[in-house]
Amino acid sequence: MVEPALRARVGGMHAWPAEMAGYAFGWCEQGGEPRAGSSGKGVRQALAVLCAEAAGAPAEAAVDGAMAVELVHTFSLLHDDIMDGDETRRQRPAAWKAYGTGPAVLAGDALFALAFEVLAGSPGPHGGAAVRRLSRDMADLVDGQAEDLLFEERPWTGPGAVEVGAYLRMAEHKTGALLGCAAALGALLAGAPAATVDALATAGRQLGVAFQAVDDVLGLWGDPVVTGKPVHGDLRRRKKTLPVLAALAAGVPASRRLAALLSGAGPLEEAALREAAGLVEEAGGRAAAMAEADARLDRARACLRGVPLAPEPAGRLLALLPYVVGRAG
Ligand code: IPE
Ligand code: IPE
Ligand code: MG
Ligand code: MG
Repeated sequence: MVEPALRARVGGMHAWPAEMAGYAFGWCEQGGEPRAGSSGKGVRQALAVLCAEAAGAPAEAAVDGAMAVELVHTFSLLHDDIMDGDETRRQRPAAWKAYGTGPAVLAGDALFALAFEVLAGSPGPHGGAAVRRLSRDMADLVDGQAEDLLFEERPWTGPGAVEVGAYLRMAEHKTGALLGCAAALGALLAGAPAATVDALATAGRQLGVAFQAVDDVLGLWGDPVVTGKPVHGDLRRRKKTLPVLAALAAGVPASRRLAALLSGAGPLEEAALREAAGLVEEAGGRAAAMAEADARLDRARACLRGVPLAPEPAGRLLALLPYVVGRAG
């Protein structure tokens, strides 16, 4: 339901950013040749639609919100891969590797602008509130992304090291903001009361932190064929991710060996990256990240149970939660 609408709107953009966007969505090859299927799990659009239904509206009420969050999500990935220096996304060369950095920035800008255009033009009485919500959550996403980038320069241990609490606040912004926005937009466009919009937005935000914790775990131990992203990419760039921070904070012998390994000067080679991932696991970092994800799902469930929702879609919403933690890609 969402994808045809999304394809039509993206198709209305300038042909060049439209091709790059189509490439990022997995709809075409580089050069514009159509490609079967599409990339991306569509978690955010599913959240928007399910929240509208849970608030008692037909799924159609959420289509503009679902489009907006997928547009913003894809925009954020186009720019994120440039910021993170990641060359692979959704099993293919990242858009900036395929088309160049400047063009990929432009394609991201085009999607960002389109997201607001879609919401601003949404028929019905809630378009204005939806635009305000997206603007606020986008500013939040930028806050999180800023912290994420600044964390790269911080030491692993000692004064100035990133604490787990600071990481979790960063993740709530970087990833939680957009999942929370997806949920809120679905509810808003459904005309839900403020308390329901807030509860669904908070549930989405908590789900977002769980999502990011699992993303971090997959970045260390996931199968690149399934995740579509290179393994150990975060560690190579010294990005502060939850399993590593939790392992360092555990205070066990493996934590100290890990700190020594990571704090060494010069790039980390493949063997060192494998050793580091082993030490993170030994120090309990992997288990701690998964436990955090589970705890966030519990919080999300509590939010969903705290407001009156239509039982059948609420059930599907609750069923979506464990997928986020159990996913392999
Ligand atoms: C990746 O999100 C970016 C993060 C916030 C971790 P997804 O893993 O949802 O990306 P796609 O859309 O499924 O590729
Ligand atoms: C992505 O975060 C979040 C945004 C794009 C705002 P990451 O950098 O952790 O996600 P991946 O691992 O590249 O998908
Ligand atoms: Mg990234
Ligand atoms: Mg990033």
